[in-house]
Amino acid sequence: MEILIRDYAEAGCLLGAKIIARVVREKPDAVLGLATGRTPLRLYQELIRMHRDEGLDFSRVMTFNLDEYVGLPATHDQSYRYFMRENLFRHINIDLTRTHVPDGTAPDLHAECRSYEKKIEAAGGIDLQLLGLGRNGHIGFNEPTGSLRSRTWVKILSEQTLKDNSAVFGSLAAMPKHALTMGIGTILDARRILLLAFGPAKVRAVEHMVEGPLAAICPGSALQLHPRATVILDENSAAGLHYADHYRWIDSQKLPWQRYE
Ligand code: F6R
Repeated sequence: MEILIRDYAEAGCLLGAKIIARVVREKPDAVLGLATGRTPLRLYQELIRMHRDEGLDFSRVMTFNLDEYVGLPATHDQSYRYFMRENLFRHINIDLTRTHVPDGTAPDLHAECRSYEKKIEAAGGIDLQLLGLGRNGHIGFNEPTGSLRSRTWVKILSEQTLKDNSAVFGSLAAMPKHALTMGIGTILDARRILLLAFGPAKVRAVEHMVEGPLAAICPGSALQLHPRATVILDENSAAGLHYADHYRWIDSQKLPWQRYE
């Protein structure tokens, strides 16, 4: 795991955007796995700026989002399809037919999950998967104790996740309790993983993910198995790490071609 600690989330998001932009420049038809939530918003704004000011070209890029709430149509302002359109897709030159978000309104959800996996496979797999981290260590909507080898499936959201995400729905009752999500096995199949976690609320999850045992109780710890996982933190989310100085040292000694900035 490559751990990059920056002073503030702002710098972490700009760094994350640089990493993604480099992937897209090197492989214009890259397949990107995308995340929603508060964490990647600034990163998406920076990708939009790079598209506008530097001509970063998304015309051949294909995307697969991690997850979607069960029962929310694409027109619902809290659906992840809506989120992606508003916060990224409509501001860049991506071909919407090349963007994928699981369909939470599919009549047969299990068939939708199976077909999502097949679409990822048919696209040649994911080149880079962007992730956030739940306060309880979840990645995608893979909640604690879910199988570390799971594939895209229907998952029940934990009470912690409901608490964390229900504000935007107005009430807990209005929030869906189920979601379709790529499994941890699906995520680990990506050729590269980029996880962002900022702020004091993520301290414990980050500590367990990076330095704790590989355990289903912290789904993010599955990244320890991945040969090319990069984790970007800010000082707040990194505050519980015992080996933070070691990560900073490694970061400072990189050879020029290993650097992103
Ligand atoms: C979003 C997702 C979730 C979030 C996580 C963190 O598509 O799959 O795992 O990344 O809940 O959410 P924020 O960024 O809102 O703290």
